Amino acid sequence: MKPSGKTKVYGVIGDPVAHSLSPTLHNAAFAALKMDCIYLAFQVKSDELENALRGMRSLGIAGLNVTMPHKSAVIPFLDEVEPTAGFLESVNTISNNGGKLLGFSTDGIGALNALKGNGVKLSDKKILLLGGGGTAKAIAYALAAEVTKLVILNRSPQKIPYLTESLNRQFSGRVTGGLLEPSALLKNLKDADVLINATSVGMHPDDAHSLVEPNLLKSSLTVMDVVYNPLETRLVKDAKKAGAQVISGVEMLIHQGAASFEIWTGKPAPIEVMRKAALNKLVGAQT
Ligand SMILES: NC(=O)c1ccc[n+]([C@@H]2O[C@H](COP(=O)([O-])OP(=O)(O)OC[C@H]3O[C@@H](n4cnc5c(N)ncnc54)[C@H](OP(=O)(O)O)[C@@H]3O)[C@@H](O)[C@H]2O)c1
Repeated sequence: MKPSGKTKVYGVIGDPVAHSLSPTLHNAAFAALKMDCIYLAFQVKSDELENALRGMRSLGIAGLNVTMPHKSAVIPFLDEVEPTAGFLESVNTISNNGGKLLGFSTDGIGALNALKGNGVKLSDKKILLLGGGGTAKAIAYALAAEVTKLVILNRSPQKIPYLTESLNRQFSGRVTGGLLEPSALLKNLKDADVLINATSVGMHPDDAHSLVEPNLLKSSLTVMDVVYNPLETRLVKDAKKAGAQVISGVEMLIHQGAASFEIWTGKPAPIEVMRKAALNKLVGAQT
Protein backbone atom coordinates (compact mmCIF):
# COMPACT_ATOMS: atom_id res chain seq x y z
CA MET A 1 0.00 0.00 0.00
CA LYS A 2 1.42 3.42 -0.97
CA PRO A 3 1.81 5.98 1.85
CA SER A 4 -1.08 8.45 1.96
CA GLY A 5 -2.18 11.38 4.11
CA LYS A 6 -3.66 8.85 6.54
CA THR A 7 -0.67 6.52 6.81
CA LYS A 8 0.23 5.64 10.41
CA VAL A 9 3.93 5.95 11.17
CA TYR A 10 5.88 3.50 13.35
CA GLY A 11 9.61 3.12 13.77
CA VAL A 12 12.66 2.19 15.78
CA ILE A 13 15.00 4.58 17.57
CA GLY A 14 18.59 3.65 18.40
CA ASP A 15 22.18 4.53 17.70
CA PRO A 16 23.31 2.85 15.51
CA VAL A 17 20.06 1.69 13.92
CA ALA A 18 20.68 1.21 10.19
CA HIS A 19 21.34 -2.53 10.74
CA SER A 20 17.96 -3.09 12.45
CA LEU A 21 15.75 -5.87 11.09
CA SER A 22 12.63 -4.31 12.61
CA PRO A 23 11.66 -2.28 9.49
CA THR A 24 11.82 -5.51 7.44
CA LEU A 25 9.66 -7.43 9.95
CA HIS A 26 7.00 -4.78 10.47
CA ASN A 27 6.67 -3.50 6.90
CA ALA A 28 6.20 -7.12 5.75
CA ALA A 29 3.49 -7.57 8.39
CA PHE A 30 1.71 -4.31 7.43
CA ALA A 31 1.82 -5.24 3.74
CA ALA A 32 0.47 -8.76 4.39
CA LEU A 33 -2.47 -7.37 6.38
CA LYS A 34 -2.99 -4.49 3.87
CA MET A 35 -2.63 -1.93 6.66
CA ASP A 36 -1.99 1.72 5.78
CA CYS A 37 1.10 1.88 7.99
CA ILE A 38 4.83 2.39 7.52
CA TYR A 39 7.81 1.54 9.74
CA LEU A 40 11.08 3.52 9.59
CA ALA A 41 14.45 3.55 11.36
CA PHE A 42 15.45 6.77 13.14
CA GLN A 43 18.99 7.25 14.33
CA VAL A 44 18.72 9.20 17.58
CA LYS A 45 21.76 10.35 19.55
CA SER A 46 21.51 10.13 23.34
CA ASP A 47 21.39 13.92 23.79
CA GLU A 48 18.44 14.08 21.36
CA LEU A 49 16.36 11.36 23.04
CA GLU A 50 14.03 13.70 24.94
CA ASN A 51 13.42 15.75 21.77
CA ALA A 52 12.74 12.56 19.82
CA LEU A 53 10.04 11.58 22.32
CA ARG A 54 8.53 15.07 22.15
CA GLY A 55 8.55 14.65 18.38
CA MET A 56 6.75 11.32 18.71
CA ARG A 57 3.92 13.09 20.55
CA SER A 58 3.76 16.15 18.34
CA LEU A 59 4.02 14.25 15.04
CA GLY A 60 1.59 11.58 16.20
CA ILE A 61 4.00 8.69 15.57
CA ALA A 62 1.85 5.71 16.56
CA GLY A 63 4.52 3.42 17.97
CA LEU A 64 8.26 3.07 18.40
CA ASN A 65 10.67 0.30 19.16
CA VAL A 66 13.65 1.29 21.25
CA THR A 67 17.04 -0.28 20.86
CA MET A 68 20.56 0.27 22.20
CA PRO A 69 21.56 2.56 23.88
CA HIS A 70 18.17 4.02 24.84
CA LYS A 71 16.23 1.13 26.43
CA SER A 72 16.61 2.47 30.01
CA ALA A 73 17.26 6.12 29.23
CA VAL A 74 13.87 6.50 27.54
CA ILE A 75 11.88 5.68 30.71
CA PRO A 76 11.81 9.20 32.29
CA PHE A 77 10.24 10.59 29.10
CA LEU A 78 7.25 8.20 29.13
CA ASP A 79 3.89 8.73 30.84
CA GLU A 80 3.58 5.16 32.03
CA VAL A 81 5.64 1.97 32.07
CA GLU A 82 4.01 -1.47 32.37
CA PRO A 83 5.22 -3.57 35.33
CA THR A 84 7.52 -5.94 33.40
CA ALA A 85 9.38 -3.05 31.78
CA GLY A 86 9.47 -1.32 35.17
CA PHE A 87 11.05 -4.37 36.82
CA LEU A 88 13.56 -4.71 33.99
CA GLU A 89 14.17 -0.94 33.84
CA SER A 90 14.11 -1.44 30.09
CA VAL A 91 11.61 -0.41 27.40
CA ASN A 92 11.78 -1.71 23.83
CA THR A 93 8.26 -0.74 22.73
CA ILE A 94 6.39 2.55 23.08
CA SER A 95 2.74 2.93 22.23
CA ASN A 96 1.30 6.41 21.61
CA ASN A 97 -2.24 6.41 22.93
CA GLY A 98 -3.59 9.84 22.00
CA GLY A 99 -0.43 11.62 23.14
CA LYS A 100 0.10 9.39 26.20
CA LEU A 101 3.29 7.37 25.80
CA LEU A 102 3.21 3.86 27.32
CA GLY A 103 6.37 1.75 27.62
CA PHE A 104 6.60 -2.05 27.34
CA SER A 105 9.32 -4.70 27.18
CA THR A 106 8.71 -7.55 24.75
CA ASP A 107 12.15 -9.27 24.90
CA GLY A 108 11.11 -11.76 27.60
CA ILE A 109 7.77 -12.65 26.03
CA GLY A 110 9.60 -12.93 22.69
CA ALA A 111 11.92 -15.58 24.11
CA LEU A 112 9.07 -17.36 25.89
CA ASN A 113 6.93 -17.46 22.73
CA ALA A 114 9.93 -18.59 20.66
CA LEU A 115 10.24 -21.60 22.98
CA LYS A 116 6.50 -22.31 23.20
CA GLY A 117 5.99 -21.68 19.47
CA ASN A 118 8.56 -24.38 18.77
CA GLY A 119 6.74 -26.88 20.98
CA VAL A 120 8.93 -26.61 24.08
CA LYS A 121 7.03 -27.43 27.28
CA LEU A 122 8.36 -25.46 30.24
CA SER A 123 6.47 -26.64 33.31
CA ASP A 124 8.54 -29.07 35.47
CA LYS A 125 11.64 -28.16 33.46
CA LYS A 126 15.10 -27.00 34.50
CA ILE A 127 16.46 -24.11 32.44
CA LEU A 128 20.11 -23.12 32.31
CA LEU A 129 20.46 -19.50 31.25
CA LEU A 130 23.88 -18.07 30.33
CA GLY A 131 24.28 -14.32 30.82
CA GLY A 132 23.38 -11.57 33.24
CA GLY A 133 22.87 -8.59 30.90
CA GLY A 134 19.63 -6.91 29.85
CA THR A 135 18.46 -9.72 27.57
CA ALA A 136 19.21 -12.44 30.12
CA LYS A 137 17.28 -10.52 32.78
CA ALA A 138 14.24 -10.13 30.50
CA ILE A 139 14.29 -13.84 29.63
CA ALA A 140 14.78 -14.84 33.27
CA TYR A 141 11.79 -12.73 34.34
CA ALA A 142 9.53 -14.28 31.68
CA LEU A 143 10.69 -17.86 32.33
CA ALA A 144 10.81 -17.80 36.13
CA ALA A 145 7.03 -17.69 36.24
CA GLU A 146 6.74 -20.85 34.13
CA VAL A 147 9.54 -23.24 35.06
CA THR A 148 10.47 -25.34 38.10
CA LYS A 149 14.12 -24.38 38.24
CA LEU A 150 16.09 -21.60 36.59
CA VAL A 151 19.87 -21.47 36.93
CA ILE A 152 21.62 -18.31 35.74
CA LEU A 153 25.37 -18.37 35.12
CA ASN A 154 27.26 -15.18 34.35
CA ARG A 155 30.90 -14.29 33.74
CA SER A 156 30.89 -11.29 36.10
CA PRO A 157 30.03 -12.41 39.65
CA GLN A 158 28.78 -9.00 40.83
CA LYS A 159 25.59 -9.14 38.72
CA ILE A 160 24.45 -12.55 40.03
CA PRO A 161 23.14 -11.82 43.57
CA TYR A 162 21.12 -8.78 42.44
CA LEU A 163 19.54 -10.78 39.63
CA THR A 164 18.67 -13.90 41.63
CA GLU A 165 17.49 -12.00 44.72
CA SER A 166 15.20 -9.69 42.76
CA LEU A 167 13.72 -12.63 40.83
CA ASN A 168 13.29 -14.80 43.93
CA ARG A 169 11.33 -12.05 45.69
CA GLN A 170 8.64 -12.74 43.08
CA PHE A 171 9.26 -16.37 42.21
CA SER A 172 10.00 -17.86 45.67
CA GLY A 173 13.34 -19.56 45.40
CA ARG A 174 13.10 -21.01 41.89
CA VAL A 175 16.13 -19.07 40.69
CA THR A 176 19.75 -19.81 41.55
CA GLY A 177 22.88 -18.23 40.16
CA GLY A 178 26.55 -18.89 39.80
CA LEU A 179 29.72 -18.08 38.01
CA LEU A 180 29.92 -19.03 34.34
CA GLU A 181 32.80 -21.51 34.51
CA PRO A 182 33.41 -25.04 33.12
CA SER A 183 32.56 -26.88 36.37
CA ALA A 184 29.21 -25.05 36.68
CA LEU A 185 28.35 -25.83 33.05
CA LEU A 186 29.22 -29.51 33.53
CA LYS A 187 27.19 -29.77 36.74
CA ASN A 188 24.11 -27.94 35.47
CA LEU A 189 23.97 -29.46 32.01
CA LYS A 190 23.70 -32.96 33.51
CA ASP A 191 20.02 -32.47 34.31
CA ALA A 192 19.04 -29.31 32.40
CA ASP A 193 16.17 -29.58 29.89
CA VAL A 194 16.75 -26.25 28.15
CA LEU A 195 19.97 -24.28 27.62
CA ILE A 196 19.75 -20.62 26.59
CA ASN A 197 22.70 -18.50 25.55
CA ALA A 198 21.71 -14.92 26.40
CA THR A 199 25.24 -13.53 26.12
CA SER A 200 26.69 -11.89 23.04
CA VAL A 201 29.23 -14.72 22.64
CA GLY A 202 29.05 -16.15 19.12
CA MET A 203 27.85 -12.90 17.57
CA HIS A 204 29.61 -11.82 14.36
CA PRO A 205 32.62 -11.32 14.12
CA ASP A 206 33.03 -13.75 17.08
CA ASP A 207 31.42 -16.55 14.97
CA ALA A 208 33.86 -19.29 16.00
CA HIS A 209 33.13 -19.06 19.73
CA SER A 210 30.71 -20.84 22.01
CA LEU A 211 30.59 -20.89 25.80
CA VAL A 212 29.68 -24.59 25.85
CA GLU A 213 32.01 -27.44 24.90
CA PRO A 214 30.30 -29.66 22.26
CA ASN A 215 30.73 -32.79 24.41
CA LEU A 216 28.37 -31.28 27.04
CA LEU A 217 25.48 -31.13 24.57
CA LYS A 218 23.05 -34.03 24.13
CA SER A 219 19.96 -34.98 22.18
CA SER A 220 17.57 -34.59 25.15
CA LEU A 221 18.42 -30.89 25.41
CA THR A 222 16.68 -27.92 23.78
CA VAL A 223 19.20 -25.20 22.94
CA MET A 224 18.21 -21.61 22.23
CA ASP A 225 20.69 -18.90 21.25
CA VAL A 226 19.62 -15.24 21.37
CA VAL A 227 22.34 -14.35 18.88
CA TYR A 228 20.93 -14.20 15.32
CA ASN A 229 23.95 -12.93 13.39
CA PRO A 230 25.21 -15.38 12.19
CA LEU A 231 21.96 -17.29 11.68
CA GLU A 232 23.68 -20.47 12.87
CA THR A 233 26.02 -19.72 15.73
CA ARG A 234 28.77 -22.10 16.82
CA LEU A 235 26.51 -23.20 19.70
CA VAL A 236 23.58 -23.88 17.36
CA LYS A 237 25.81 -25.88 15.00
CA ASP A 238 27.24 -27.95 17.88
CA ALA A 239 23.77 -28.52 19.34
CA LYS A 240 22.47 -29.74 15.96
CA LYS A 241 25.38 -32.15 15.69
CA ALA A 242 24.53 -33.48 19.16
CA GLY A 243 20.94 -34.11 18.01
CA ALA A 244 19.46 -31.45 20.30
CA GLN A 245 16.40 -29.38 19.36
CA VAL A 246 17.66 -25.93 18.38
CA ILE A 247 15.92 -22.57 18.36
CA SER A 248 17.84 -19.72 16.76
CA GLY A 249 17.92 -16.09 17.82
CA VAL A 250 15.75 -15.21 14.83
CA GLU A 251 12.80 -16.90 16.53
CA MET A 252 13.13 -14.61 19.54
CA LEU A 253 13.55 -11.62 17.25
CA ILE A 254 10.36 -12.48 15.37
CA HIS A 255 8.34 -13.10 18.51
CA GLN A 256 9.47 -9.92 20.30
CA GLY A 257 8.56 -8.00 17.13
CA ALA A 258 5.23 -9.80 16.95
CA ALA A 259 4.47 -8.81 20.55
CA SER A 260 5.19 -5.12 19.71
CA PHE A 261 2.98 -5.38 16.61
CA GLU A 262 0.12 -6.75 18.72
CA ILE A 263 0.50 -4.00 21.36
CA TRP A 264 0.28 -1.32 18.65
CA THR A 265 -2.39 -2.74 16.38
CA GLY A 266 -4.44 -5.09 18.57
CA LYS A 267 -4.23 -7.59 15.69
CA PRO A 268 -2.55 -11.03 15.76
CA ALA A 269 0.87 -10.66 14.11
CA PRO A 270 1.43 -12.63 10.88
CA ILE A 271 4.31 -14.67 12.34
CA GLU A 272 5.01 -16.68 9.17
CA VAL A 273 5.25 -13.51 7.06
CA MET A 274 7.60 -11.93 9.60
CA ARG A 275 9.76 -15.08 9.78
CA LYS A 276 10.08 -15.27 6.00
CA ALA A 277 10.98 -11.57 5.72
CA ALA A 278 13.61 -11.80 8.49
CA LEU A 279 15.19 -14.95 7.07
CA ASN A 280 15.30 -13.54 3.53
CA LYS A 281 17.04 -10.44 4.79
CA LEU A 282 19.51 -12.34 7.00
CA VAL A 283 20.34 -14.97 4.39
CA GLY A 284 20.78 -12.19 1.80
CA ALA A 285 23.13 -10.33 4.16
CA GLN A 286 25.22 -13.43 4.82
CA THR A 287 25.70 -14.63 1.25
N1 LIG B 1 17.19 -12.45 19.31
C1 LIG B 1 16.73 -11.32 19.81
O1 LIG B 1 15.58 -10.93 19.58
C2 LIG B 1 17.60 -10.49 20.70
C3 LIG B 1 17.02 -9.46 21.47
C4 LIG B 1 17.86 -8.69 22.31
C5 LIG B 1 19.23 -8.98 22.35
N2 LIG B 1 19.75 -9.98 21.58
C6 LIG B 1 21.19 -10.31 21.64
O2 LIG B 1 21.49 -10.68 22.97
C7 LIG B 1 22.88 -10.47 23.22
C8 LIG B 1 23.05 -9.85 24.60
O3 LIG B 1 22.48 -8.55 24.59
P1 LIG B 1 22.30 -7.70 25.95
O4 LIG B 1 21.47 -6.53 25.60
O5 LIG B 1 21.88 -8.58 27.08
O6 LIG B 1 23.81 -7.21 26.20
P2 LIG B 1 24.47 -6.81 27.59
O7 LIG B 1 23.48 -6.25 28.54
O8 LIG B 1 25.68 -6.03 27.22
O9 LIG B 1 24.96 -8.23 28.21
C9 LIG B 1 25.94 -9.02 27.56
C10 LIG B 1 26.06 -10.35 28.29
O10 LIG B 1 27.02 -11.15 27.59
C11 LIG B 1 28.03 -11.58 28.50
N3 LIG B 1 29.30 -11.74 27.80
C12 LIG B 1 29.83 -10.93 26.85
N4 LIG B 1 31.02 -11.42 26.44
C13 LIG B 1 31.25 -12.56 27.14
C14 LIG B 1 32.29 -13.52 27.17
N5 LIG B 1 33.35 -13.41 26.37
N6 LIG B 1 32.17 -14.58 28.01
C15 LIG B 1 31.09 -14.70 28.81
N7 LIG B 1 30.06 -13.84 28.84
C16 LIG B 1 30.13 -12.77 28.01
C17 LIG B 1 28.09 -10.46 29.53
O11 LIG B 1 28.71 -10.95 30.71
P3 LIG B 1 29.27 -9.91 31.83
O12 LIG B 1 28.10 -9.54 32.65
O13 LIG B 1 30.27 -10.71 32.55
O14 LIG B 1 29.87 -8.75 31.07
C18 LIG B 1 26.58 -10.20 29.73
O15 LIG B 1 26.00 -11.20 30.52
C19 LIG B 1 23.37 -9.61 22.05
O16 LIG B 1 24.12 -10.45 21.18
C20 LIG B 1 22.10 -9.13 21.37
O17 LIG B 1 22.26 -8.94 19.97
C21 LIG B 1 18.96 -10.75 20.77
